[in-house]
Amino acid sequence: MADLSGNYEIRRFGAVSEGNDGYAEAETWARAVAFGFHESTRTPEHVAKSLATYETDGRVLTGVYQTGQVAAHSLPADVPVATFATFRKSLNIGFGRTLETRLVTSVTVRTSHRRRGLLRRMMSEDLHLAKEDGLAMAALTASEGTIYGRFGYGVASFERTVKVDTTARFSLGHQPTGSVEVADPKALLQLAPEVFDQVHQLTPGSLGRQEWYRQFASGSLGRDGKEDPAVKVALHYSADGAVDGYVSYKFLGWDTEPYTVEVVDLVAAGNDAYLELWQFLGAIDLVERVSWDEAPIDDPLAWALSDPRCIDSSDSRDMLWLRILDAGKALEARHYPADGRLVFEVHDSLGLAAGTFALAVDGGKAAVERLPETAEADLALDVSALSSIYLGAVCPVTLTAAGRIREKTAGAALKARQMFAVERAPHCLTHF
Ligand SMILES: CC(C)(COP(=O)(O)OP(=O)(O)OC[C@H]1O[C@@H](n2cnc3c(N)ncnc32)[C@H](O)[C@@H]1OP(=O)(O)O)[C@@H](O)C(=O)NCCC(=O)NCCS
Repeated sequence: MADLSGNYEIRRFGAVSEGNDGYAEAETWARAVAFGFHESTRTPEHVAKSLATYETDGRVLTGVYQTGQVAAHSLPADVPVATFATFRKSLNIGFGRTLETRLVTSVTVRTSHRRRGLLRRMMSEDLHLAKEDGLAMAALTASEGTIYGRFGYGVASFERTVKVDTTARFSLGHQPTGSVEVADPKALLQLAPEVFDQVHQLTPGSLGRQEWYRQFASGSLGRDGKEDPAVKVALHYSADGAVDGYVSYKFLGWDTEPYTVEVVDLVAAGNDAYLELWQFLGAIDLVERVSWDEAPIDDPLAWALSDPRCIDSSDSRDMLWLRILDAGKALEARHYPADGRLVFEVHDSLGLAAGTFALAVDGGKAAVERLPETAEADLALDVSALSSIYLGAVCPVTLTAAGRIREKTAGAALKARQMFAVERAPHCLTHF
């Protein structure tokens, strides 16, 4: 690849809301992101609303700018040819423990500047900065499966789209312990973060949510930047009257057959809340189907239905990609349900997490020691594979079968599976 680094400069700046210094730069950056994802040109109001939420999240915006003369009549030099954004949220890493994580989003490179190493430059610089900031983990969601493995990211959680038949077939063998009531969608502006926080503490793989979510779930800010008057909301109350779950949903109209309700957001801080919100969805009159794009793979709903075939799930896909930045710190942060000792030989083309690490767990308490490179390892693997197994949703035995992990001590992959297990199926309800 020709060295074009002199033709571009990288600038990083904080997201600011309208009326503040730096707004023009942030606005131009936001338009470049929308362009990169093939959106129609955003209205000034839409950009302003997005940037206000980004400011609340403390997003750092990265833009790559042309330093030389730009071609006559082409977009001016203040429009970035590549974009990248980061912010911090906590990741639930099992058993109620959390790890501060660098979230990477808004990755675009203008078509006329692609394959010149701009993504590589933004990503490698940013991952080094994140590690310097003391973070042990980075995360993203990927538009394509081939882009991020080379930077050390590995698939760590999954989700699926479900279409649930809610005709007479739909029946859950669950005796309600709480109740469900319809509410004004705007109630979620306050309640959604409170309920989500409960779910976040309980769910391995959960990531803290950005400001946009409460606005989206309450119908205040749709994907087109406007209010969404179609959004409706039901709340779940536990036996003691506390709100411990909600579903935000909309009817897709009389032209969509079978008549369908689409789940906008479903957040339940407990098994009963989850099943009772599904009982509510299944009971909506004049509707024959409920669809949800962010359903878990390992879904209690399937086991609670008297006819599990009510669920048609056609589309299972990777969701969260993790990237360990500091192997010692990340391994030590986890709780392990099984005792044992494993030595990992970690390879990392960016050099961030490479090394040989002994993980010793005694009584659930982990100690990690960095060993000399020459030390005998039980498992040799790329940092992307270690990142994949970290949350307990990807099986080390399967990665060994796939050639992604080399088992140097017989049985070590199974031992890793037992040690990295978490208390319930990981699921991430936060897209970013
Ligand atoms: C994906 C995208 C950001 C790549 O940017 P880029 O600047 O062309 O990437 P780079 O030139 O830095 O390439 C880095 C490496 O990734 C590879 N790569 C980049 N995009 C790839 C893709 N879509 N599929 C497979 N490999 C890809 C390159 O071949 C290169 O490999 P190498 O380092 O082994 O030589 C760009 O194509 C884009 O903007 N796509 C549309 C928006 C999008 O999908 N964004 C991702 C959101 S999650």
